[in-house]
Amino acid sequence: MNALETTPTPIAAPVGILAELTHRCPLGCPYCSNPIELEQRAGELETHDWMRVFSEAAAIGILHAHLSGGEPAARRDLVEIVAHCKKVGLYTNLITSGIGLTQERLKQLADAGLDHVQLSIQDAAPESADRIAGYKGAFARKMDVAKWVNEAGLPLTVNAVIHRANIARAGRMVEFAVELGARRVEIAHTQYYGWALVNRKALMPSRAQVDKAVAEVEALRETYAGKIVIDHVIPDYYARYPKACMGGWAKRTLNVNPHGKVLPCHAAETIPGLEFWNVRDHSLGDIWFNAPAFNAFRGTEWMREPCRSCPRKTVDFGGCRCQALALTGDARNADPICHLSPHHDKVSEIAATFDEVDENVPASDYNYRMLKTQVPA
Ligand code: SF4
Ligand code: FES
Repeated sequence: MNALETTPTPIAAPVGILAELTHRCPLGCPYCSNPIELEQRAGELETHDWMRVFSEAAAIGILHAHLSGGEPAARRDLVEIVAHCKKVGLYTNLITSGIGLTQERLKQLADAGLDHVQLSIQDAAPESADRIAGYKGAFARKMDVAKWVNEAGLPLTVNAVIHRANIARAGRMVEFAVELGARRVEIAHTQYYGWALVNRKALMPSRAQVDKAVAEVEALRETYAGKIVIDHVIPDYYARYPKACMGGWAKRTLNVNPHGKVLPCHAAETIPGLEFWNVRDHSLGDIWFNAPAFNAFRGTEWMREPCRSCPRKTVDFGGCRCQALALTGDARNADPICHLSPHHDKVSEIAATFDEVDENVPASDYNYRMLKTQVPA
């Protein structure tokens, strides 16, 4: 009997798995979505563990495997992992900084059945890009990687996280993605949890900068219609309603960290009192349907007012639990981004402190994400 048959409630299977194959990464982006407490190399799941995880993912109906990190290319078994995902019928998306990929390795990945590459860029201006990444030469390397991805016949998405040091070029990054041969570009304004929360003072743009950048990117939709798909994640701190973080807690996707711990979202471990299960002890299906952390904020039963009686509660699911915790001290509160939240003033106050900011952020202002690594050539 599998987990789908034993679950007492009609919970749908997840659509995607985000596999953090390793937290090792040569870059140090100050907005990294990995937790502050990064998992060390010792203790990472072995190749055969990951293969079992992906087999279980396919068995419970997961369709998409997002191979992420850290930098997934730091895993020497990446080609084997991709080949296994292909074998069990998963669509594979490699989320990469590009550092650690060679043309030969990309060809091997394509031959193993890789379906898609998502390449991060830090900026469209080389010097700024390298400063944000904390890695000299990263920009130039990414240009090579984009070319190799195209030559390998793989579809390319370019992903740019927007913050004060690059917001002046938000529109330029769409053009840059077109030049790199991408079919899709994600322009995502920084979400302030984890490393980004630590670096908020250096990252947060002003309201005027945000308004200008959002208008610029939106105007490009028409210019580039039919050439590139633009996904635009607008900034939280200046919004009226929160986003449905993760599409709703434990509703669509799950994250497996490098040591096998399964999380409903990147920052879930910041929430005190949650019990996370590990793929070493439980099947993925058992975890999805029965792990306490997944059921803690599933659906709408856990909600307090104003969410409990709000018509949007099945639209945004009360926003982000981790942001609610970070800004109000309690993950059960409505995300204070929401203008209906009794804590919303706090967000407005924080945003107002960034009315006047200088976009020339020196590297010394960043707390770079640590746990850097050498990647295989
Ligand atoms: Fe969303 Fe809650 Fe705000 Fe309603 S009150 S819009 S459910 S965060
Ligand atoms: Fe955890 Fe939004 S990051 S719920």
